[in-house]
Amino acid sequence: MAIDYQQKIPNNVDLGNDRRLQRALEHWQPRYLDWWQQMGPADFQCADVYLRTATSVDAKGWAQFGHVQMPEYRWGIFLAERDANRTVGFGDEFGKSVWQEVPGEHRAVLRRLIVTQGDTEPASVEQQRLLGLTCPSLYDLRNLFQVNVEEGRHLWAMVYLLHAYFGRDGREEAEELLHRHSGDADNPRILGTFNEPIEDWLSFFMFTYFTDRDGKYQLKSLAESAFDPLARTCQFMLTEEAHHMFVGETGVGRIVKRCLEVMKGSKSDDPEVIRKAGAIDLPLLQRYINFWFSSCLDLFGADSSSNAASYFAAGVKGRPDEAMFADHICKDSQYDLSVPDGAGGARIETIPTRNAMNEITRNLYIEDCQKGVTRWNRLIKKAGFDFEIKLPSSRFRRSIGSWANLPIDPSGSLLANDVYQNCLAAVLPSEADRAYVHSLMKPVTEPGKMASWIAAPDRGINNNTPEFEYVKLH
Ligand SMILES: [Fe+2]
Ligand SMILES: [Fe+2]
Repeated sequence: MAIDYQQKIPNNVDLGNDRRLQRALEHWQPRYLDWWQQMGPADFQCADVYLRTATSVDAKGWAQFGHVQMPEYRWGIFLAERDANRTVGFGDEFGKSVWQEVPGEHRAVLRRLIVTQGDTEPASVEQQRLLGLTCPSLYDLRNLFQVNVEEGRHLWAMVYLLHAYFGRDGREEAEELLHRHSGDADNPRILGTFNEPIEDWLSFFMFTYFTDRDGKYQLKSLAESAFDPLARTCQFMLTEEAHHMFVGETGVGRIVKRCLEVMKGSKSDDPEVIRKAGAIDLPLLQRYINFWFSSCLDLFGADSSSNAASYFAAGVKGRPDEAMFADHICKDSQYDLSVPDGAGGARIETIPTRNAMNEITRNLYIEDCQKGVTRWNRLIKKAGFDFEIKLPSSRFRRSIGSWANLPIDPSGSLLANDVYQNCLAAVLPSEADRAYVHSLMKPVTEPGKMASWIAAPDRGINNNTPEFEYVKLH
């Protein structure tokens, strides 16, 4: 049976008139759906979920809400509108016309960047596969599935680029994106973090706050690319990504709020007392933040990187919001990088700015991470308690870059090795922490009801109340 592409796959790439692309997608789409059934959200494929679907890129069309069964979700292909006058915004090609096709000399690098980005999208769906079974509310269950279907759409976005611009290699890469699986011993996902299962909702909120935000910065850098179809694809993905980080920030905020209610009611900040009431204590939350923030920093790569320099020079991958920088060429400029001085402190090493692109992006990410932390701290202060959530030092627990594998504590101080081991045990989630968090993971599926460890949201989705039946279970 012929597929009506305009109907079945909402798109703004004139899919109905591109025979070659249609054939490629005819081949890929049933495999994608098999993957979704096998590796997507467990047990909820028949539930009616109140989901947002993009049917066009304009303000009206990109957020159509309605109850749908997830396998019936209309995964579409959308690129931001083309700007016919767009020129390369950085690097050696600065000011020249952007590329509508892949230049031969950048083909391998662009393919690798697209595949790496594409690989993270289905990976996170796989990581979160079992979470629905322990949802703290129908509102949260819906948000989980919204994130999942949109990560699925982001896979479509990257697969579209591979099919449309990379010929046979692209089609092969698109197949591989469905064959690698998170945590698979023989065929794992490309990046380490995306192979760790996410088994509890505190980790889910940490993932959407910290890891999806890494995604935001990667997409922002690719949205600057001289390869125009990639730039436009990433620009539209960013509009969806914003909701994922909203889920993370409000999720953690609601956990803080619930903890503060218990602290006020019991007039105690003793973790034992908080846990007796079924809430999550702030020191435990801090340990999860220490873990997630430090592992996400490594996703940006080495602080001095010749790959990053060549991506920038070529125009393949820029800095987030490139327009806000004064110098877009950075040919002779220098960057002062802090590196270990070998005596417990830091010294400045001056490197070419182009080699510092990962570090520049990482620092913007850190600033962005701090914003939510500041808001959470405001809640704590307003409730009259003396506790401050802190992002650990960017030198803490790093595995990549000049600060890798050094015994540094969350405040950034170098410790003796044995002291460091004790420190790690105290500042990262312990077995007991994880066991406690797991003990809280019991499904709450009555509309409007919340689990004991999280406060209700201030408002619902799309002007609905928090009590709205966001997921109709059958
Ligand atoms: Fe994504
Ligand atoms: Fe995301």
